[in-house]
Amino acid sequence: MIGQKTLGGRRVLLIIGGGIAAFKAPELIRLLRARGAGVTPVLTSAGSQFVTPLTLASLAGEAVHQDLFDLTSETEIGHIQLSRSADLVVVVAATADLMAKMAAGLANDLASTLLLATDKRVLIAPAMNVRMWDHPATQRNIRQLKQDGILFAGPTSGDMACGEFGEGRMIEPSEILAAIEGTLATGPLAGRHVLVTSGPTHEPIDPVRYIANRSSGAQGTAIAAALRDLGAEVSFITGPALIPPPEGVRVIKVETAREMAQAVEAALPADVAIFAAAVADWRVANATGQKIKKDATGALPHLEFTENPDILATVSQDRARRPKLVIGFAAETEKVIEHATAKRARKGCDWIVANDVSPETGIMGGAENAVIVISDAGAQSWPRMGKEAVAKRLADKIAVALA
Ligand code: CTP
Repeated sequence: MIGQKTLGGRRVLLIIGGGIAAFKAPELIRLLRARGAGVTPVLTSAGSQFVTPLTLASLAGEAVHQDLFDLTSETEIGHIQLSRSADLVVVVAATADLMAKMAAGLANDLASTLLLATDKRVLIAPAMNVRMWDHPATQRNIRQLKQDGILFAGPTSGDMACGEFGEGRMIEPSEILAAIEGTLATGPLAGRHVLVTSGPTHEPIDPVRYIANRSSGAQGTAIAAALRDLGAEVSFITGPALIPPPEGVRVIKVETAREMAQAVEAALPADVAIFAAAVADWRVANATGQKIKKDATGALPHLEFTENPDILATVSQDRARRPKLVIGFAAETEKVIEHATAKRARKGCDWIVANDVSPETGIMGGAENAVIVISDAGAQSWPRMGKEAVAKRLADKIAVALA
């Protein structure tokens, strides 16, 4: 995965068991947070002998859950809800005892109850003395847990805190992090590179003035996040948008159409390219390097325009580097299907997502969108819905097309 925020927007429920290796949990939390993940710590009573709730809470930036019958937690967030609140449940210092409870399906404290109640994948990093690891009871439990679909990160062989040497040593936090990243990147678009353009462009008139449009970047941002959630590696090339870019994607900020064209060129190759940006069709040909001053005679400035490169058309028609699937947007104010169909043919993209941006629709800069997706299969009208819902549906459609 590229970039640092490889786990942006993802949540991990981190159960810390009672082994000496629990001292590595704070480092794992720090690494997860640095990758953009949210971490909810759950500390067993044995775990609290090795690491304090205050350390965990400070690093996670969240309360630590410890007690199954904590009335505050139960009213605010019940254990069932807690067990399902994350994308992945991770157990560090998965002790022989905790693994035995899991294999037997026991639920006699908060950690084991969450592990039994969760509907999410569970990844464990075992940590125990070599004789405990080799014991037939533990080996039986390992087989059972693997059969139940529990994912294992380690253990490894090495020197142990107890002075012995052998298998059962917990792997390092950086290795557990890699296992978590690998596990969470298993959506239908895992291993696919997707390029998304978004937002408006600013075309300078002089150093302090520019020409822009009303695009907020909301639809492109939502699309990038939805693709990331399906496991794609996303390059997000954005003009100066109102809303912040999503976490967990590679963000390339640009100002002008020409900068956007260069950034797209540099980000290729890609499996899919989605051009959601509202690129200025023209730029000011006689833009000045100095601020234009009012003329003493009262003469008005005269702006001359020249056409910007059409990024969508260029990429669609690039025989060598064309992504498998190229998707354009069409912002129209009349004859939406007719104009968008002609635009699809003219530019040479696979799909066009058309929308009516007449001011009375409130779509441009608003929270909702009503789109018509035009492809070889014809025009498909989607009902008006939130831009995030449009993004999710489009991401699902892309995953199906690439399958
Ligand atoms: N687009 C682009 N580069 C440009 C202009 C547009 O990549 N210089 C892309 C947009 O991101 C969008 C699609 O082309 O995906 C359609 O843009 P739109 O502005 O609606 O169409 P135009 O080509 O400008 O056609 P018209 O002005 O006739 O509506």
